[in-house]
Amino acid sequence: MYDLIVIGAGPGGYEAAAHAAKLGAKVAVVERDSIGGTCLNVGCIPTKTFLRSSKLFAECRQAAAFGVEISGLRFNLAAVVERKNKIVGTLTRGVEGLLKHSGVEVVRGNAKLASKSTVQVGELTLAAKNILIATGARPVIPAIPGIESSGVLDSTGVLRLTELPKTVAIIGGGYIGLEFASFFAAVGVEVSVLEMLPQIATGMDHDISTRLQQALKKNGVAFKTSCLVKAIEGNTVHFEQAGAPSALRAECIVNATGRAPVVEGLGLAEIGVDFDRKGIRTSDRGKTNIPGIWASGDVTGRRPLAHAATREGLVAVNNMLGKPDRIRYDAIPCVIYTHPEVASAGKTENELKALGVEYKKALLPMGVAGRFLVENEGASGAVKVLVGARYGEILGVHALGDLSSEFIVAAAAMIEMEMTVSDVEAVIFPHPTVSEALKLAILEAA
Ligand code: NAI
Repeated sequence: MYDLIVIGAGPGGYEAAAHAAKLGAKVAVVERDSIGGTCLNVGCIPTKTFLRSSKLFAECRQAAAFGVEISGLRFNLAAVVERKNKIVGTLTRGVEGLLKHSGVEVVRGNAKLASKSTVQVGELTLAAKNILIATGARPVIPAIPGIESSGVLDSTGVLRLTELPKTVAIIGGGYIGLEFASFFAAVGVEVSVLEMLPQIATGMDHDISTRLQQALKKNGVAFKTSCLVKAIEGNTVHFEQAGAPSALRAECIVNATGRAPVVEGLGLAEIGVDFDRKGIRTSDRGKTNIPGIWASGDVTGRRPLAHAATREGLVAVNNMLGKPDRIRYDAIPCVIYTHPEVASAGKTENELKALGVEYKKALLPMGVAGRFLVENEGASGAVKVLVGARYGEILGVHALGDLSSEFIVAAAAMIEMEMTVSDVEAVIFPHPTVSEALKLAILEAA
């Protein structure tokens, strides 16, 4: 009898398994694919290696503006993939080592709930006091005729390309679509993004998503918003914009229309676990409606981000082992690794309006921080801060500009700790750093 069986060894599962084992529990983790899950194998990490190489390439093309002359520049996709595989290999071995050293047993195979306290993996029946479901998400296949043809790639398919196409059409202007659009544009591929909503990166603060779209456009990404994709035929995407039918040809078509929780084949309905196509319903303690069955990560459909998944997994473990804990969803930072990148934490202006919260705001160009001008040449950047009208508590921070991913955690901490503008006045920010734009925007919002 295990204290805990974790189904899925992605960020929502493996850290939870290791944490439980370190607290003395007898733990097994079941994985049917690669250890590390989507994030490590085909998500966050590999895409960031692609983006890093493309950024370096774009910077080299712009090097003369920094007084550096380069000739014979070439983007070598095979070498990029090799580097990606090396990094993924190192990190995967790291996770395997973590599980081994923590004393977690790794079971290979497809897990299914056989009862409220047993998991079936092939011929094996494993019994546990607690089961944590962390099966993640998979690409959505929308009802577009032709979308399932072999010529249409999902995010995993893009990472398997052996040659750069000349033209790419990306369906979906969310995180995945925008990161790949940045990658392709930076290496000289002609790229179009087709988004059905009027705005890209929906859910992001409007001022920042508008500026992001302008910045990406400047970098060569073409956008078609309010664009309904009707069908795909060979290399042609048929769509409708403002009621008018049109078509776009591209050597490569990418489906980036979202991801859906992996809830099928787990035996959830048979056991009575409360779930739908949006995911398994959980409390802020990671509990499902069935005692002893917990869920974390993308399968819950709550915040499909690796770092949220990790925290959800740890919270579930703490609660199941008698240490009361809960996750707060208010201050989970979020980054889109576009060129330029976007980082945010807390509420957007539209969310505050919808909640009826009275707020004050400031929106400053990133260039108020000298370091931003030093690091970038002609780049766009802005920081927007939202604070409570009465007490000046920090409610939301939304930034566009490179290096913002590295300071957004400060904003998340301020929101989590309910800091006010006057608290931040006393915090000394290092100079020269891009983070100084954050402090200036906070003071401006008071
Ligand atoms: P998403 O839900 O963020 O974006 C999908 C976009 O496709 C939406 O804007 C939607 O309106 C659009 N769309 C859907 N159907 C369409 C159609 N038929 N025609 C045109 N547009 C259509 O999903 P995405 O980008 O696939 O990412 C999935 C998840 O992965 C996200 O929720 C995100 O949290 C996570 N992720 C996080 C990253 C990060 O933290 N940097 C990077 C990549 C993904």
